[in-house]
Amino acid sequence: MINKTTHIPVLLDETIKALSIKNEEFYIDATFGVGGYSKAILEAKKCKVLGVDRDPEAAPIAETIKIEFNNRFFFQNAKFSQIEELLEPLKIKKVAGIVFDLGVSSPQIDQIHRGFSFKLDGPLDMRMSKEGPTAEEFINKVEENTLANIIFELGDEVFSRRIAKNIISERAINSITKTGQLASIVRKAIPSAKHKIDPATKTFQAIRIYLNDEISELEKGLIAAEKILQPNGILAVVSFHSIEDRIIKNFFLKCSQDKNLSRHIPEIPSKQHSLKILTKKPILPSAIEIKYNKRSRSAKLRVAERTIFPSQFGDVA
Ligand SMILES: C[S@@+](CC[C@H](N)C(=O)[O-])C[C@H]1O[C@@H](n2cnc3c(N)ncnc32)[C@H](O)[C@@H]1O
Repeated sequence: MINKTTHIPVLLDETIKALSIKNEEFYIDATFGVGGYSKAILEAKKCKVLGVDRDPEAAPIAETIKIEFNNRFFFQNAKFSQIEELLEPLKIKKVAGIVFDLGVSSPQIDQIHRGFSFKLDGPLDMRMSKEGPTAEEFINKVEENTLANIIFELGDEVFSRRIAKNIISERAINSITKTGQLASIVRKAIPSAKHKIDPATKTFQAIRIYLNDEISELEKGLIAAEKILQPNGILAVVSFHSIEDRIIKNFFLKCSQDKNLSRHIPEIPSKQHSLKILTKKPILPSAIEIKYNKRSRSAKLRVAERTIFPSQFGDVA
């Protein structure tokens, strides 16, 4: 089970403020984790929250929040790409706010058996949902060129070809079964003068994103959120690397921009935009937050408000 005490929610005050929480309204915490955001939303006003997390280890923590907040909190062990259908059993169609806090939680990284960390020597797992192929199965089977492309595209790693080549030649001798073993192969593939962060960081990130289908999940999650937000509902997304942030930024722009928008009367769009961007630039953690929570240093919060116009992707019936 996830150790509840070890995850410090990132950009929490800024996110809660952005959500502008109201009594009686319904909110979705699409990445429940250890419940930091859910709890803060429930404490802010007499509202209701649906917490969603694909990790089965989040469920026992959700139980404790259910006990504390009784009939104001619900939980589903599911992917956030499914949020639209998760509302059906609750007989709810639209919500006042949705928050995504992407990536993995500190307990997921810090628990050796989850196999996410290049700092620990655990089994090569890396599956958030604990289903589908493990990182071990993937790394011992994947074709070299495909692996290099994944490391390059999802890790922004310029040494992707060398890393992939080394992994393929190592696994011809011994199967790669441990995080420490993989990290050491990656470290050896990168020239030492180039080390600013641990050289294994980007490759581990790329494999994790690929294995958990995180890009497609994010795209589907954003579309679902736009569909189920009520007018003036708030969409708040915290991301931790440039690939995610680019997707969020482009999604917000796509749903909010109109090249023919009148410069004189911008509040009356000539096209029917479904989102209004509330953060022209992303909100970043303060120096104090970064000092006390190193994990927050790359976080970016983007916020948009749902307009009264129909969804770009088909309104919920
Ligand atoms: C950064 S943590 C969230 C921490 C949370 N805000 C808190 O304060 O405790 C991200 C969580 O999102 C979950 N997650 C990531 N992708 C998901 C997806 N596609 N669907 C559902 N949960 C997801 C992970 O399992 C992880 O628990």
